[in-house]
Amino acid sequence: MNRKFKLAPSILSADFARLGEQIEAVKSAGAEYLHVDVMDGMFVPNISLGPPVIRSIRKTTDVILDTHLMIVKPERYIRTFAEAGADIITVHVEAVDPGSVGSLITAIKKFKKKAGLTIKPGTSVDAVLPYIELLDLVLIMSVEPGFGGQDLIPHTLKKVEDLARCVDSRGLSTDIEIDGGICLQTVRDALNAGANVLVAGSAIFDTPSPSEAVKEFIDIAKKFF
Ligand code: DX5
Ligand code: ZN
Repeated sequence: MNRKFKLAPSILSADFARLGEQIEAVKSAGAEYLHVDVMDGMFVPNISLGPPVIRSIRKTTDVILDTHLMIVKPERYIRTFAEAGADIITVHVEAVDPGSVGSLITAIKKFKKKAGLTIKPGTSVDAVLPYIELLDLVLIMSVEPGFGGQDLIPHTLKKVEDLARCVDSRGLSTDIEIDGGICLQTVRDALNAGANVLVAGSAIFDTPSPSEAVKEFIDIAKKFF
């Protein structure tokens, strides 16, 4: 396996009034990515944050900004998110015209950003495989996108396994990220399935100490990598 472990705290569950302080806490505790959920109220039935917030975060930290776009027609906003300071830009395959997925990945890379493709729980891994050689990251949604604090949907772990097998058999180092319902009870299942980037929102920020929660996740993951 060529993949390295990274924890990606999702700021969807952070206290937005204390965002800078909370980001610094999780970064200092060892989180390498910061997961930023962008929702437009169309692709998902919720609205979160957008480019101005990313711009502000970028000014305060050099943590890797892992941007998960839950928006329709994401091709309209690649430049905006790239210029706002995203490091990884991940789009939903379901949100893109099937004939345009390849050119969208190319567009993300033209801005020297890492490109990710993500699938909802009901979408097959086959939807990303044609692009696997081009991608830096594949995100398997383990809940229906839109809200934090949901329970992991067990059948999505099988998708992580299938993807990991495919990535490893081709000798690739594509990050395999899982997002939704990751907590201290489910983290081992996600790692066993082959995920190397774990998104966790409520399990980190809805606790008395986000930094302690980060350390607990990292301690568990160390045994797998
Ligand atoms: C949901 C988002 C997730 C969310 C995960 O659509 O993509 O990143 O923050 O939240 P938890 O970890 O609480 O399930
Ligand atoms: Zn997300």
